[in-house]
Amino acid sequence: MSSSETIKEIVSKCEDTKETANKCEVKQETVIKSDDKVEIVTTIGDKKNEVEEDNSVVEWYNGLAKAYPDSKELQFMNYGYAHLDQDQDAETGQCYVQLYEQVIAGKTIKDKDILEVSCGRGAGAAWCVEKYSPQSYIGLDASSNVIELCKRNHSNIKNLSFVVSNASKPFPFPDQSFDIVLSVEATHAYGGPKAVRQFAHEVARVLRPNGYLLWCDTCHIDQTGSSIEYLTDGGELIVEEKVNITKNVLRARDIMNKSGVEFIDRVIPMNQRKLWLDFAGMPGSLIYENLREERIIYWRAVLTKK
Ligand SMILES: C[S@@+](CC[C@H](N)C(=O)[O-])C[C@H]1O[C@@H](n2cnc3c(N)ncnc32)[C@H](O)[C@@H]1O
Repeated sequence: MSSSETIKEIVSKCEDTKETANKCEVKQETVIKSDDKVEIVTTIGDKKNEVEEDNSVVEWYNGLAKAYPDSKELQFMNYGYAHLDQDQDAETGQCYVQLYEQVIAGKTIKDKDILEVSCGRGAGAAWCVEKYSPQSYIGLDASSNVIELCKRNHSNIKNLSFVVSNASKPFPFPDQSFDIVLSVEATHAYGGPKAVRQFAHEVARVLRPNGYLLWCDTCHIDQTGSSIEYLTDGGELIVEEKVNITKNVLRARDIMNKSGVEFIDRVIPMNQRKLWLDFAGMPGSLIYENLREERIIYWRAVLTKK
């Protein structure tokens, strides 16, 4: 079964997304680089370097939320961050929280108004609110099913709320509403440079003067897919700090490998396992190898409003 059929099968588990599942496509192209290296480029749904009205990535997350609402392994949906000089516990989900901690980069959250764009299932949002006590924290995601899970699982937390909205469309908030916008491992999914520029524009609009965008994501060194430059080339945000955390992310993947593979073996049907190993960036997957070979860099950055 091809990857494309596999994704459709996962998404189609969700009765009400059956129709859109047909739009979900995984494409793999073999690219021969100038140094004769061969690279396989995978795109899920959207076309590289183009903004299209294509919701297939969001439908993928919708399908996961519907098919696997309670899996503890999917409460965070990032690759994690591991310290290189410390033992790390795979069971506690410590690596996922540490990625949020790194992205926050010591900035003050207490008593601030925070917007998290692409909050996923809200585990990072819940952790931030409990640890740092912001004045308000809104988690936004384009997947209505993940937002439903956020509300179901975290509605008891004071000052935390969730909204369905698309990161590359106008945000449903007035100008200068937030002190900090947080974005963890999501811009690669927005549909290319134009969508990320639109996201950056909206971030700058809703930030107060001296506000921060605290961000991390994978970036292809050939600038396909996503890039820090797309956040800054509109001239509204500037990079205050930028750190290559690829090694820490790879270490987190190594640490989570055993439990991740166990989860996939236990829960995912046999014919979907390869796709899941790739999706989760497990050692041996294409994305893991691209990170290891530094064709893709995992950056975290602090950006300020100009
Ligand atoms: C890799 S997950 C990261 C989730 C969360 N930040 C975490 O660390 O657990 C990416 C998230 O981006 C969301 N997403 C994808 N495209 C989006 C868009 N255009 N607008 C808003 N959210 C989007 C997905 O629904 C998904 O929840």
